[in-house]
Amino acid sequence: MKKRIVVVGSLNMDIIISTNRLPQIGETILGNEVNYLPGGKGANQAVSIARLGGDVTMIGAVGQDEFGKSLLEQMENNEVNTAFIDQVEDIKTGIADIFHVNHDNCIVVVPGANFTLTPEKITPEMEQLIASADVLLTQLEIPLDTVQKVLEIASKHNVKSILNPAPAQTLPAEMLQLVDYLTPNETEFALLAEHPFNTDEELKDLMKKWQAAYDQTLIVTLGDQGSAYLQNGQLVITPTEKVEVIDTTGAGDSFNGALAISVAEEKTLPEMIAFATKVAARAVTKFGAQDGMPYAADLD
Ligand code: RIB
Ligand code: NA
Repeated sequence: MKKRIVVVGSLNMDIIISTNRLPQIGETILGNEVNYLPGGKGANQAVSIARLGGDVTMIGAVGQDEFGKSLLEQMENNEVNTAFIDQVEDIKTGIADIFHVNHDNCIVVVPGANFTLTPEKITPEMEQLIASADVLLTQLEIPLDTVQKVLEIASKHNVKSILNPAPAQTLPAEMLQLVDYLTPNETEFALLAEHPFNTDEELKDLMKKWQAAYDQTLIVTLGDQGSAYLQNGQLVITPTEKVEVIDTTGAGDSFNGALAISVAEEKTLPEMIAFATKVAARAVTKFGAQDGMPYAADLD
């Protein structure tokens, strides 16, 4: 039986401009190339799960425009269940303007339709869907009240939840205490913990403090350094394999998708992290957020 995972999150059209450098305010420069590719943290994570063999349903919203249609199609092509993706009138599909500079990026997201996914849009049918899932996975590109609501639903029905707290922001304790697995990157964790860290020792102390406050598994992703978690009070860093990096967009999303599958399969924490780290390393070897995400069969 396939594991059932519900992703509540964003769908964006990624407008990716490849350029040698960023312009300054008031400056115009010529870029190299533009690409339109499906993205959005929610959609990316859903695709990652589907490709790894999960039965995934996405709750989200797009506009009734060309981008929206195309994103829905992409979800269907990837065997993500789209029955709970709303097509909202009179609002634009979310977009992400991505400046791709030397294999790295910076992004401006305009949420558009994603922000129409207010708590009232979570129907009893959706609650039922979450209640019968193995795992709920969500992020922060939809209204925070909705994140709160779906986490409450998961907690009420004893469904394991993963919150990928991206893009970075501080979060209320009422939300954090509902989460079973929290997966910030370094920037996000420093912001959440309201404390910067530089060394592994400082990271360990901050993670210990966090886990004393919240009864959850904390995994801090460290980019090309891998990811960190605590085991018996010790900091464990799982390194990533060295790969040729083409595009890091969606690396975190592929990690979270793989983690969701592993949590559903009740793997041990070291197994989960090893798997998610391996999947993320594959994802960065291709251009675009979703294109490089591996299928289960690619991994053996
Ligand atoms: O995590 C990567 C994603 O962030 C991109 O696909 C973009 O849509 C932004 O939401
Ligand atoms: Na990629």
